[in-house]
Amino acid sequence: MAKMDKKPQEGKPANKKPAAQDVAAQLELKPGQSIELLKALHILTREGKLNQDSRRKLKQVYHLYQFIEPLLGELSKNEQAVTLADHGAGKSYLGFILYDLYFKALGRGKIYGIETRAPLVETSQKLAAELHFDRMEFLNMSVAESTRADFMPERFDVVTALHACDTATDDAIAFGIEKKAKAMVLVPCCQAEVAACLRQTKALSLTRTPLAELWRHPIHTREMGSQITNVLRCLYLEACGYQVTVTELVGWEHSMKNELIVARYTGHKKRASAERLRQLLAEFGLSGLAALRYPHLPAETPSTEQGAEAAVLEA
Ligand SMILES: C[S@@+](CC[C@H](N)C(=O)[O-])C[C@H]1O[C@@H](n2cnc3c(N)ncnc32)[C@H](O)[C@@H]1O
Repeated sequence: MAKMDKKPQEGKPANKKPAAQDVAAQLELKPGQSIELLKALHILTREGKLNQDSRRKLKQVYHLYQFIEPLLGELSKNEQAVTLADHGAGKSYLGFILYDLYFKALGRGKIYGIETRAPLVETSQKLAAELHFDRMEFLNMSVAESTRADFMPERFDVVTALHACDTATDDAIAFGIEKKAKAMVLVPCCQAEVAACLRQTKALSLTRTPLAELWRHPIHTREMGSQITNVLRCLYLEACGYQVTVTELVGWEHSMKNELIVARYTGHKKRASAERLRQLLAEFGLSGLAALRYPHLPAETPSTEQGAEAAVLEA
């Protein structure tokens, strides 16, 4: 068979290597950022061209970085060495970019990537060794296992979870609360647990109200399930002493799951949020999830009458 003619077609530019500055501009590269890392993450091809799919990921990660960098700056003041756990790390795009842009130059602090898929963990370990990103560690375990692992630090400053599947985000929140994290940055993924409960119980107390229309069709059940889950997560964080903001990560063209929850520890545990959470669980027939998902929920406050009775009994 004749070989394909590789000569450029008339009128078309030759397939030239992209100018380094063009790529840098398109990628919005920051000073000192590792090109080798971007190639290893397949954001750049070996020839230094942009890989459009991976570029989307980079855009999400950059956007997230804008929220995380000020937190890191604040928490690394006074020579503090920040510990950060990235849950459901996948290929560790986020962890690597955070290290490259922040931890590398700072010279202190450590990132842990937690991921259940062994090949991804091995690849990340190799890449970190090649790039001499010495203060990165990758653990092949679930988020829940990492919370219980006795070799893990007792405290973590920052917890991130970018599209950690299903209940892995809840586990990441539990990890953050256990480890007294000062900040959590969460972009939840698909969520099935609450939708399954809705399907089963049909939120009994609400079935005869027009509200039941909100989850009658399967696709709505799924979306309502996700919505309720994230609302419950925010209330739980507030009840546990975090101030919560919820915004959009990037435009819908980049990801269908783009709700960004940023929680900062203030120590002010909102009773009203704990109560609202309990009420929502009860209304939607989800109280069975309370012990599993919200173990740190502060105890119910007695009503004024009950409180008065308790005071009399105590006296
Ligand atoms: C959608 S990917 C996101 C990966 C990465 N954070 C990103 O945004 O590119 C979710 C990752 O979470 C991992 N995962 C799912 N459940 C997990 C769990 N319980 N503990 C740790 N990792 C988990 C999956 O193996 C998968 O790699």
